[in-house]
Order: sequence, then structure tokens, then C-alpha cells
Amino acid sequence: MSDHRKDDEILGKAYDAKLMRRLLSYVKPYKGYVTLAILLNIVVAILPSVRPYLTKIAIDDYIANKDFDGLITIAALLLGTLLSQAVVQYFLTYFTELMGQKIIFDIRVQLFRHVERLALKFFDKTPIGRIVTRVTNDVESLNEMFSSGIVSVFSDIFVIIWIFFFMFTMSWDLALVTLSVIPILFYATFLFRKKVREAYRDVRYHLARLNSYMQEHITGMNVVQLFSKEEEELKKFSSINNDYKNANIRSVFYYAIFFPFVELLSAISIGLIIWYGGGEVVQNTLTLGVLIAFLQYTEMFWRPVRDLSEKYNILQTAMASSERIFKLLDDKTFVKNPENPVKLENVKGEIEFKNVWFAYNPGEYVLKDISFKINAGETAAIVGATGAGKTSIINILTRFYDIEKGAIFIDGVDISKVDKRDLRRYISVVLQDVYLFSGTIKSNISLGSGEITEEQIINAAKTVGAHDFIMKLPGKYDEIVKEKGATLSVGQKQLISFARALAYNPKILILDEATSSIDTETEILIQKAIEELLRGRTSIVIAHRLSTIQNADKILVMHKGELKEVGTHQELLARKGIYYKLYQLQYKDQEVIKSN
Ligand code: UTP
Ligand code: MG
Repeated sequence: MSDHRKDDEILGKAYDAKLMRRLLSYVKPYKGYVTLAILLNIVVAILPSVRPYLTKIAIDDYIANKDFDGLITIAALLLGTLLSQAVVQYFLTYFTELMGQKIIFDIRVQLFRHVERLALKFFDKTPIGRIVTRVTNDVESLNEMFSSGIVSVFSDIFVIIWIFFFMFTMSWDLALVTLSVIPILFYATFLFRKKVREAYRDVRYHLARLNSYMQEHITGMNVVQLFSKEEEELKKFSSINNDYKNANIRSVFYYAIFFPFVELLSAISIGLIIWYGGGEVVQNTLTLGVLIAFLQYTEMFWRPVRDLSEKYNILQTAMASSERIFKLLDDKTFVKNPENPVKLENVKGEIEFKNVWFAYNPGEYVLKDISFKINAGETAAIVGATGAGKTSIINILTRFYDIEKGAIFIDGVDISKVDKRDLRRYISVVLQDVYLFSGTIKSNISLGSGEITEEQIINAAKTVGAHDFIMKLPGKYDEIVKEKGATLSVGQKQLISFARALAYNPKILILDEATSSIDTETEILIQKAIEELLRGRTSIVIAHRLSTIQNADKILVMHKGELKEVGTHQELLARKGIYYKLYQLQYKDQEVIKSN
């Protein structure tokens, strides 16, 4: 947790050259857009800066000399600059936005691809909300920087340069007087940025708290409601929400001071122009046109200055976001794939564990020195108390996690030398909790694989006995699965997951039997389905059903991470060891119920 807290607190520098270089590498494919945007920016900056100068000419050269034709020309020029500015502005906005969207599209794809490749170990330690935030919010703030931020910083700077240029060419002493407030502005901006930075860190931290709280409680809403914890949870939520509100108010406070202050400074510089410039006009050392042009330039000058402080925030947010994005991209929690993988071919399905040690966290072994062999075509049942390490055996056989010591062989080939995808082609796993995706029943069985035909899907469903209930659904195989299959019963979901495993026709089938008890009718259905699933392939079943266990060729008895007993049901009963005790405690009742 503390690690993630730090993540959200990353303030970063407002500008970090290394980060920026890496960010700009995403812009590279769109160099054309960037060049175009900068050119358009120069135009967009110069057009408004010319207008006060044109005003000055209009007043001094034409109004003063009562030259009506000249005045018309200037008016036409002014109109021309306005219209062309509008057109250029349109293209500028369009192209910069287009570029920004293209860039963040690339980044999102890269992020998603990266996350897909990460090992489950990563997801054990990272809340889902964080990963989602990276791909959505953080990428979005990069967009803001790419599309409006960076590019309009150019235009702001160009506008300021042009204004300086025109001011100093018209009257350098008045220019100096007008700009005399600038040092005060710099100092105020410096203070403002410092304060806003601190406030901003608070806002982010409390927002992250709010998000994780929401996520956790929406996910666990049934528990909250079941235990009538709504009031308590609301109180906790209110307190977090309150912290967030206060942090926001604090940050707004600095804005509320800074912007009026900038306004005040701009009013002072206007006052200075009228006082100093007006004096010069009275003494005839300055024309009225220049005075009016100066007043216009001052107004124009403060807008980009104000904008720049906002751009600073965009830049800072983007830097912090990119730091978090890159941190995720740099996370190398992969299950290692061998460099020259051995090809698994014509797999028969023999599985062997040789002195396997495994730990989720370094040093805390959950599997200790496990050795066993399952011949091709055999069914092995794993039994043991909860937490004994049954699911872990499966997690390492499918290489969701890598083992610490020992080796696992399939048909005599060390699976750590095999490409993960190759390995998983031969293994199907039916997990303890069924996971359905949004889509149709059909797509949930085939998992979108084009290799599996509709016929295979229906055959698989028929074999496991799911066909009948699917045909009773209004949409049949095209029935939409909503919200992880909330409208289906637990038993139905299980049958669908059996069909999914079968459709892939794996050589090795792994089944983590659900513990949840279901009605007798479905129970019988599932029993049959399991028999069908296991037929003709090597299977490992984490068994909770006595029938599955009794039919197994081999029973592996796990106890606190160790393999204590191996044998058939009868052999193990005769041994009167752990299995015998387990049987007395857990399975005997099932027999009693069945015989009734
Ligand atoms: P298992 O998940 O292998 O237990 O966890 P199991 O035998 O299948 O248990 P049931 O029957 O499904 O309940 C074995 C040990 O590994 C730890 C667990 O705390 C347990 O002590 N473990 C499991 C982790 O440390 N991290 C994990 O991600 C999963
Ligand atoms: Mg388990």
C-alpha cells in the first residue's frame, strides 16, 4: 500500500529532461504534425499582435490627417487578420487535437499490451483501480499536454515576443515603464506555483483514497448490504470525501488569490501607461496612436502570461502522469520465457513433478519438495484442507508463477524450457470461480478463438450437458452474458466453463472443483459433465466430490504444503493416515446423503 501511496504522491519536477525525451519519442512518428502545428502557431501569434500596430497607423496617419480612404484600408486589413486568424485557429486546433489523440492511442495500446504480458504476481500486489487509472486518467493528462499544452506554450511565447517587438519599436522608454511590473509578476508566480504544487499533491492523494474506497465497496456491495453496514461505510466515505473537498478548496484558494493579483498588476501597468505615456502625449513627444496601441498590447500581454501559469500545471500533471505510466511500463514482472524454447509436440500428457519448491513471497514456501508422477491418460485427484497448496500446484503447472527449486516435466520435457503459449495450448483449466466475460454464451465458450467452429461449441456444450439449458435461453447460444453472468446460476456458469475447457480439446485437463453446493439435479448433471471432461485425457482434479475422488487413478493428499500420501481410495483408507481422517470428516457425509 505504502508503495502505491508514493505513486500517487509523485509530484515530479515540472520539467524533467529525461522524462520529456522519452515522451517526445512518442511524438516522433508525427513529426509532420508537429512542424505544421509550430508554423500555424507562429501565424496565429503574429496576426493578433499586428492589430494594435494597425490601430496606431489608423490613428496617427489617417484619423489625424482625416484620410478616409486610408482608414478603410486599415479597417479591411484588421478584418482580414481577424478572419484569417479564425481559419488558422481552426486548423491548428484540429491538427494538434488529432496529433494528441493519435499519440495517446499509441500509448494506451502499448500499456494494455504490457499489462497483458505481466505475470499474475504483479496483479497480486497491484489494485485493479491503479492499473485502470494509468490507462485512462494518466494517459488523458498526457493528451492535454500534447494537444493543448506544449503546442500553445509556443503560441504564448510567440505572442509575448511579438508584443515586445512592437512595443520596443514604437517607444522603448514607454515599453520599459509598462513592463516594470514584470519582476513582481515573476515573484508572485514563483510563490503561486510552489503553493499550488503542495496543494495539488494533497488533492491527488485524497482522490486516490476516494477512488480505491469506492472501487472496493462497489465490488463488495453485496457484503456491505448483507451485513447492513451502509451507515458505517457512508460515514467512512464522508470523512474521506471531506478530506478531498478540503484539499480542493485549499488549492482553489491559491488560484483565487493569484488571478486577481495578476489582474491588479495588469491594471497597474495600464495606469503607468496612461500616466507616463499620457504625459508624453501632452508634451508632444508621443503620438496618441502609440498610446492606444500600448494600452491594447498590455491587455494582450497578460493573457498569455496567465495562460503560461496554467500551462505549467498541465505540464506538471503530465510529468507526474508520465512518470507513473513509465513506471508501469518498466515493470518487468514477467514469467520468463526461454530464449530458445523447446517445442512441445504430440503431447501424450504425462506429468511429473520432481522436488518442486514454490513460494508466492520469497522464503515463505507454500509447496515443499513435491514429487509425483501422473501417467498419460490418468486421472489424479488432489485433496487436502483449505490452504494446503492445491491451487498452487495448478498455478505452477500452467506457469502462472515460476517455481523456486526443482522441475516440472510434461512428456519428459522441462516446462520451464517451453514457450508459455505452447504449454497452455495443451492444458485447459477450469477454475474454482468461473469467470464469464461480457459477450454471448457462444463467445464465452470459444473465448473468441476463430479456430473453434460453431459445431465444436455446440458439441462441447452437449457433451457436458449444458446444451439443454442454453437452448431454453431466449437468445440460445447468442444470449448476451451480462455482468459476469449475474443472470446465470452457479451451476450453469460451471457447465459453461466445462464446455469452454472441452471446446479446446486439451491433452491435459485441470479442474479446480467448486466447493459451493448445488441442488441434487445440477449436481448429477455436473457429475456426468466431469466424467465426460476427464475421459481420454490426463487430468488433475482438485476434488471436493467423493465420486470424483473414488474414480481417480491416484489421489495426492496435500497437507500444509507437503505431499503426504499417494494412492487409490482403497489403499489410502487402509493406511488410516491423513486421508482416512479427511474422509471421516468430509466425505463420508456425502456418501450418507447419496445412499439416502
Ligand atoms: P492454495 O491456494 O494453494 O490453497 O494456497 P488451496 O489448497 O487451493 O486451498 P483451497 O482449498 O482452495 O481453499 C496455499 C497457500 O498459499 C498462500 C495461501 O495463503 C495458502 O496458505 N497463497 C495463496 C499466497 O500466499 N498467495 C496467493 O496468491 C495464493
Ligand atoms: Mg484452491
